[in-house]
Amino acid sequence: MTTDRTINPRNRLFVAIELPEVLRAHAAEAGAMAATHTQARLVAGPNLHITLQFLGQVRPDCADDLLAALADALHGPGIRVRAGTVVARPSPGRARLLALELHDTDGALTVLAKRVHRATAAVLDGSVSNRPLWPHITVARFSRPERVRRSPTTESERVFDITRVALYDSDIAPGRAPRYDELLGVTLGTLVQRSPSHG
Ligand code: 2AM
Repeated sequence: MTTDRTINPRNRLFVAIELPEVLRAHAAEAGAMAATHTQARLVAGPNLHITLQFLGQVRPDCADDLLAALADALHGPGIRVRAGTVVARPSPGRARLLALELHDTDGALTVLAKRVHRATAAVLDGSVSNRPLWPHITVARFSRPERVRRSPTTESERVFDITRVALYDSDIAPGRAPRYDELLGVTLGTLVQRSPSHG
């Protein structure tokens, strides 16, 4: 597979689940509730996602191999997750972010993340983190560590079906929200590669 997309070497790539609208709305609502009375900045609705693998800066000449490896790796049936509570990380005493935790009810999300890790590590010479998957959606971030109260949200029994996973290019700059540009998107079962748009 070849791509006309140019990866800006300053940008950072990551593989993530694109949220179905119902889960996006649930996460946004839970985040807004948990961030009340804190200095946290809510993550904008369109930027909410479940990170499967952070890749960081990727050499532009690896782009074609990376896309080909992911096109092979990203397949399988839809995945069901259950929403948990919003937690403060790394700790409520010094919170840097608030995240809605998810339960990988049958382990399928972890299996997909492992496949993504194998595929990306093979292309990127093992420079890829092999931290175990923490299924979550970051819903708010703090500019500086803050003490927060225990989350007022309660465990939900709601389940959500996930059907889309993508490779994103994250363009970050001070003073504005990150911009995520989808380089390759897969609807679990079928492959949809975005037509080249800009270089
Ligand atoms: P998060 O949702 O767990 O915060 C895009 O930047 C995504 O990549 C972020 O949403 C973040 O996942 C993850 N990310 C950013 N920087 C990272 C880093 N240095 N190590 C691991 N993951 C990172």
